[in-house]
Amino acid sequence: LPAFLTQRHGELHVEDLSLDSLARAHGTPLFVYSQAAMLQALGAYQRGLAGRSHLICYAMKANSSLAILQTLVRAGCGLDIVSGGELERALAAGCAPERIIFSGVGKTRAEMRRALDVGIGCFNVESRAELAVLDEVARAVGRRARVSVRVNPDVDAQTHPYISTGLKDNKFGIAHDEVLDTYRQAASCSGLEVVGIDCHIGSQITQAAPYLDALERVLDLVAAIEGLGLGLRLHHIDFGGGLGIDYRGDTPPAADALWAQLLQRLDARGFGDRQILIEPGRSIVGNAGVCLTEVLYLKPGEHKNFLIVDAAMNDLPRPAMYQAYHRIEPLRARADTAPLTWDVVGPVCESGDWLGRDRELAVQAGDRLAVLSAGAYCMSMASNYNTRGRAAEVLVDGARATVIRQRETAADQMRLETPLP
Ligand code: LLP
Repeated sequence: LPAFLTQRHGELHVEDLSLDSLARAHGTPLFVYSQAAMLQALGAYQRGLAGRSHLICYAMKANSSLAILQTLVRAGCGLDIVSGGELERALAAGCAPERIIFSGVGKTRAEMRRALDVGIGCFNVESRAELAVLDEVARAVGRRARVSVRVNPDVDAQTHPYISTGLKDNKFGIAHDEVLDTYRQAASCSGLEVVGIDCHIGSQITQAAPYLDALERVLDLVAAIEGLGLGLRLHHIDFGGGLGIDYRGDTPPAADALWAQLLQRLDARGFGDRQILIEPGRSIVGNAGVCLTEVLYLKPGEHKNFLIVDAAMNDLPRPAMYQAYHRIEPLRARADTAPLTWDVVGPVCESGDWLGRDRELAVQAGDRLAVLSAGAYCMSMASNYNTRGRAAEVLVDGARATVIRQRETAADQMRLETPLP
């Protein structure tokens, strides 16, 4: 179990609170987050980068609830955003605009304008066409956009098959052999100020090797860019996010250990003086949250036993979307029931609506379960499919629980619609 979850008197606790009491008080499905767990995860990065000029831009797509953003911003994070909506959330959470960086392949002119207006720190540009549009928008509003080019380091898939976005044939970043021309283009645009370089090689990475490979390739590019004779000097290097978490016995390197290795290489290559940016998402919040759900019905069958629970793919889309594994634990241990092998499924009308398959659980209807590792890419990917209201969220700090999002009602969901007369 993650450290913030403990068994006390046969009941699962988050920090000092019983999860079953939280479920009873606030209903299910319910997301519960541990503030200590997220600050601890952030702390590993802060230790790893201590003494260096750096900015940790939490990738808020992982979980963009305002109170979570506030917690991380107050603890020193900047934010990595990917839409105009995320920009407004970032500002609402009190993030200083210059600590916001804007990633993503499809920024609109309106999003660019708003980001320039508030004065964000950097645009991570993903194509030459986007670079041209950003230059035009910036000149039109009389500002210079600070830019970094997202490069695709094309880290070898043969050796590191778990990398999903750092390879040649995907939509992200600028191909390795086009990078220099892109910097030439950027340097010639009066609406742009070149400040950095960035990459992001994938998500749920559980080894150090791909990071080390990407680092070498990015540093090769920095040297080449600065050698172009255009007077370019890259103020920061942004290594993206992607560090994995333990879903099912995964053993990713600790953030501080990983950074000790990366900094050593950075220094050895003579780039230790640059500001370091990173964009971690999952590794900050993923294992700081659980989703509580209640068992509605037991439906044993000839070949399969189904445990029908009140959380579903709309609350927790990762199993349905990626066949992702999330541990599932009862909130109270039961001695009076024999364990059986269950498929844990939700009420949504889709065969793909499952949360866990072939799980050994001793449960009865009315029991409550925790789906673990639900802090990242669950609530932020939740939908209203089947007109299911999105779950409530609670943030725990020691023995204090704060409702940070109310359960969504049917009226909330219909608010923007206009019925015919
Ligand atoms: N920076 C960029 C440019 C990204 O595209 C991402 C994630 C991150 C940072 C943060 O990566 P992280 O540290 O969280 O791995 N929905 C999927 C994950 C999609 C990740 C998208 N990009 C999932 O649930 O596994």
